[in-house]
Amino acid sequence: MHIPSLNYAESLEDGKTAGIQILDAFRNPGFLFVENIPSYDSAQLLKWTRWFFTDLSKEEREKLQPNPYRGYMPAQSGKSSYKEIFEIGAFENPHNHPKEVSLERPLEDTNLWPENCDDFKEFCANFHKQMSSVGANLLKWLNGAVAKDHDWVNLFQPNSLSTLRFIYYPQRPEDDALLLSSKDGQRPLHCSEHSDGGFITLLSTFHYSGLQIKTDEDKWKDVELEGREGLVVNIGEMMVRLCAASGETEVKATKHRVADLGADRFSVPFFFEPKWSAAFDGKPYGELVLDHMKAFVEYDKLHQVIAARDSK
Ligand SMILES: [Fe+2]
Repeated sequence: MHIPSLNYAESLEDGKTAGIQILDAFRNPGFLFVENIPSYDSAQLLKWTRWFFTDLSKEEREKLQPNPYRGYMPAQSGKSSYKEIFEIGAFENPHNHPKEVSLERPLEDTNLWPENCDDFKEFCANFHKQMSSVGANLLKWLNGAVAKDHDWVNLFQPNSLSTLRFIYYPQRPEDDALLLSSKDGQRPLHCSEHSDGGFITLLSTFHYSGLQIKTDEDKWKDVELEGREGLVVNIGEMMVRLCAASGETEVKATKHRVADLGADRFSVPFFFEPKWSAAFDGKPYGELVLDHMKAFVEYDKLHQVIAARDSK
């Protein structure tokens, strides 16, 4: 299925029209394609993504995994989502030990980097900044269309928890329990059915197919991306609630999944998120994120650390 598109460069000149287009897309189908983003370079992004997962040795990647929310997470065989992840945030805190989860604010941990990788680090820092800027503009334009009297942007800045996640979906090993139990040639999914929990997801998915979204009729449809350069954008449950609090109840966090097409696949979502201290439901946003992450196998280790903290 074809998702509606937004011309980003033109929107910079006319945020009002952009807001209406974004609102329309998030009402139905709940996904938007953002194109014509100045200096967005998916070829460079794919080059560095491949470099991290396929050029860097397994040993070097595995050095970067003491904290499951920053750095590297290996694929877990037999689980519903089979992928390797490298995750970075905006925090470069010299006082924060990179090999320990910060018990107070575990989502503000400092980043972990491979050795001797200044070019990679510089690319990531710039790309994180670029995605933060695109996310802030999309939010501002949507804010204008939904709730002129409220300033949503100040919930997100400064010190946003936004994260950049490099993902590699390798083939499942032949003895993978899910692969062995799959029937009639139906392969297990790369990434299982879910709706996003947060605010705005900006996805670089390159030329890969496999992303499917669920229609109102409960049918799975392939998202058509061939030949399009830009970002697939969707909203999560928290953004839906933020809109609802201003009377906009038609936007939705559409369910999606990633089919396994029998080949390696890379993608890079950027999760545009508020700052830790932004209050939602009387709780700091950071605490709500930790609750939501309990549903994901990738964060088992983080939750063991949090549970140990809370039992003290
Ligand atoms: Fe998602």
